[in-house]
Amino acid sequence: MKLNSQQPLYLQIYEMIKQDIIENKYTKNEKLPSIRNLAKKLGVNNVTIVKTYDTLEKDLYVYKKRGSGVYVNNLNIRKNFLEEEIIMENFQYGRLEVNCKINFANSNPNGNYFPIKKFKDCINYVIDRDQEKIFAYEDPKGYIELRNTISKHLETEKIIVPPKYIQIISGAQQGIDLITKSLIHFGDKVIIENPSYSGAITSFKRGGAKVIDIPLLKDGIDLDILNNILIKEKISYLYLMTNFQNPTGISYSKKNKLKILALAKKYNFYIIEDDSSSDLYYKNKPFSLKSMDTNEKVIYIKSYSRIFMPGLRLGFLIAPKDKLKYISFTKYHTDISTPGLIQRAFEHYLNSPLWEIHTKKLRIIYKKKFEVAYNLLKKIDHLELFAIPQGGLYFWVKLENITSEALFLKALQKKVGILPGSIFKLNEKSEGWVRLCFADVEIEEIKKGLKILKESVEKLHKL
Ligand SMILES: Cc1ncc(COP(=O)(O)O)c(C=O)c1O
Repeated sequence: MKLNSQQPLYLQIYEMIKQDIIENKYTKNEKLPSIRNLAKKLGVNNVTIVKTYDTLEKDLYVYKKRGSGVYVNNLNIRKNFLEEEIIMENFQYGRLEVNCKINFANSNPNGNYFPIKKFKDCINYVIDRDQEKIFAYEDPKGYIELRNTISKHLETEKIIVPPKYIQIISGAQQGIDLITKSLIHFGDKVIIENPSYSGAITSFKRGGAKVIDIPLLKDGIDLDILNNILIKEKISYLYLMTNFQNPTGISYSKKNKLKILALAKKYNFYIIEDDSSSDLYYKNKPFSLKSMDTNEKVIYIKSYSRIFMPGLRLGFLIAPKDKLKYISFTKYHTDISTPGLIQRAFEHYLNSPLWEIHTKKLRIIYKKKFEVAYNLLKKIDHLELFAIPQGGLYFWVKLENITSEALFLKALQKKVGILPGSIFKLNEKSEGWVRLCFADVEIEEIKKGLKILKESVEKLHKL
């Protein structure tokens, strides 16, 4: 072996051994020379060979047996592994991009529900009405008439907030990001639910927060654990989805909500309430924490992605005055404003009877889907529902003696997509949990898809 000084030695040795493995100069499971022998033979340090073998192992060319040595991997196993990894990478944003016929992973609403023709009329109407104003910079806080209309709508939800305390945002994800950038300082402690929405976990972590998770029970976060943490540590923010939580579908009980508000006052922390799904109730309209917030402790985020069209990138945020000024400042320095055309067209839609008609229609569709899916899920053995959701788009299920990743891969062979729970966990471990979402799956597909899942669970259980 001829080594040069241009490249790190361990990489040159890695390349040579890798090439020999690919060209079948070794048989599978053949033992490679010991670290000491190879180092001596090549005239390099033992540490260099350790690094070489570690890199070969990471790339799955070799495997190690504790106390025995390093062995050549079966290249077919390596190929299968890599394919699985590629598939796994496809759901790292909580979305499954690979080709599934029945996609319980996707939480994008089915495009058939989008009121495209009506919305097109709204766009044309506001262009005629507002002309060039539409294409100028919009008010960074948001189009004033949209904030007025939202303020009126909120009254029906028992949230009394003047338009000046409403900030229009480009979707809830932007709301979370703006809060992180403007309010959360490096090392601040932020509590989240376990499991929680992956976009929030990433944002808080990336913003330098120390993120702590607390198990979610059927009626909200575990208050005993929360209490214990608050006694010992200074917590800055608590991020919650109080209604039809993503991924579990649970809603907080009124008692739990009141207790959390009382704790926020006592320990002086703020609650970030992400209320992205509350319009999708099956029976009773739920109330937010914000509607009970008498001490200005809740920063409220609402998105129109689930109930309307996610591609519009539209939502709003309400925050106490002293917090809102930082958030609005950051919004301005992030994207100046949410596009005026979208805000004005949406305001026209929201301010008309179309809104009620559309939202009612969606609730009926999702309730029906929920019922069909729930009745079938109940009949699948070795799978347990965490809770029975009263609204929203998700089921959170626990598998018995099967890993989520095994079911994910098995189902994918039949072109059925699901999401392993790791996405929603701070520790990134699925622990047998899976989220099933029926936003983009029609009733007949729900029936077919759950039949395939049932068969897959049974097969895996027999292994
Ligand atoms: C709880 C929650 N918050 C925020 C988002 C981000 O959505 P958007 O930015 O489209 O409003 C999602 C998307 O799935 C979500 O589930």
